[in-house]
Amino acid sequence: MAVSHITPPLQPVTLADYEAQSREKLEPGIWAYFSGGAADELTLRRNTEAWQSLELWPRVLRPLTGGHTKLRLAGRELAHPILLAPVAHQKLAHPDGELGSALAAAAQGAGYVLSTQSSTPMEAIASAVLDDPGRGPLWFQLYWQHDRAFNLALAQRAQAAGYESLVLTADAPVSGARDRERRSGFTLPTGMGSVHLQNLPAPSYQPSETYCAGLPAHAPCWEDIAWLQERTPLPIWLKGVLHPQDALQAKRLGVAGLIVSNHGGRTLDTAPTTTRALPLIARALEGGLPLIVDGGIRRGTDVLKALALGANAVLIGRPAMHGLAVDGALGVARVIRLLRDELEIAMALTGCRTLDEATPALLSPS
Ligand code: FNR
Ligand code: LAC
Repeated sequence: MAVSHITPPLQPVTLADYEAQSREKLEPGIWAYFSGGAADELTLRRNTEAWQSLELWPRVLRPLTGGHTKLRLAGRELAHPILLAPVAHQKLAHPDGELGSALAAAAQGAGYVLSTQSSTPMEAIASAVLDDPGRGPLWFQLYWQHDRAFNLALAQRAQAAGYESLVLTADAPVSGARDRERRSGFTLPTGMGSVHLQNLPAPSYQPSETYCAGLPAHAPCWEDIAWLQERTPLPIWLKGVLHPQDALQAKRLGVAGLIVSNHGGRTLDTAPTTTRALPLIARALEGGLPLIVDGGIRRGTDVLKALALGANAVLIGRPAMHGLAVDGALGVARVIRLLRDELEIAMALTGCRTLDEATPALLSPS
């Protein structure tokens, strides 16, 4: 009998395994787009290292019966604190694209945030997942455009489709200096554009050759958030906040919550890691707003540390794309499941019966 010399790839058992396998699958330019960060990628690297370098101080012999990962967020009960971050152009990773990752999130009880720069229309995602009783929240991420009426129309469209919140991304008035991506020669394949921006009217201002004079003319300001709040009933979360003063300003404005994020190290290089920003923001707000954090979360222990530092929940960006690239929707579902299983193991091993028990004391014995 002929012996096959082809060894099937090993079943991934960690998010890092999915990352390694996705690198084999993706064309180099697309890999550079998904995995790269800004400039020297210092923030990108520090994001993962920062979670790793925090130590967990386990408590032993505590009662663990009846433990669970449930929480309340944005007026709903969620099965666990993991949501998928908005990530643009998901069909680049796999033909299942956003539909695959949204279905996987729903099946695993994870929230899903759809990017403005999606390769799938928002209505198609909403109609596929809204009836799933076990799904997490479904939110639409808004990249502010130069035309206020267009932004409002997008917000109204999201509301009509059934999205439950808007996530306004504040940390990317321009794209970061994404050197790795540019070196790779990556360009978006034709037909892969952002479906939600197809009817965007041309800007009335003259695009300029310099960044400062030109591109940020359409960047959102605090007044734009207030303007939008007056016109949409959807709660607005602000994504990309790092400075405690900005967090306080957002609270005064009455936003629904904050996503403490450095955009996965893709915008401002040398921006602080969210392990540093999150506790400062949590302290400044004194529990005044729900907090979600992202950037470099790759292990269940990282999720537990994020909660100990003051987050209510976490977003994962690239890991979902690694799962998607390896195995479509199934890969995304397994990534979420692996992370949740690891979180539960970490909770049991640190003596946390529920997420509320993840306090700063987990990170320091004093
Ligand atoms: C992103 N991110 C992002 N954020 C956003 O608000 N709108 C978007 O369209 C995108 N697009 C996007 C594309 C790709 C390829 C990546 C990797 C990231 C940022 C994303 O929501 C999240 O903040 C980070 O990905 C979190 O870091 P990790 O989990 O990837 O380390
Ligand atoms: C990015 C943009 C789309 O990070 O947010 O690629």
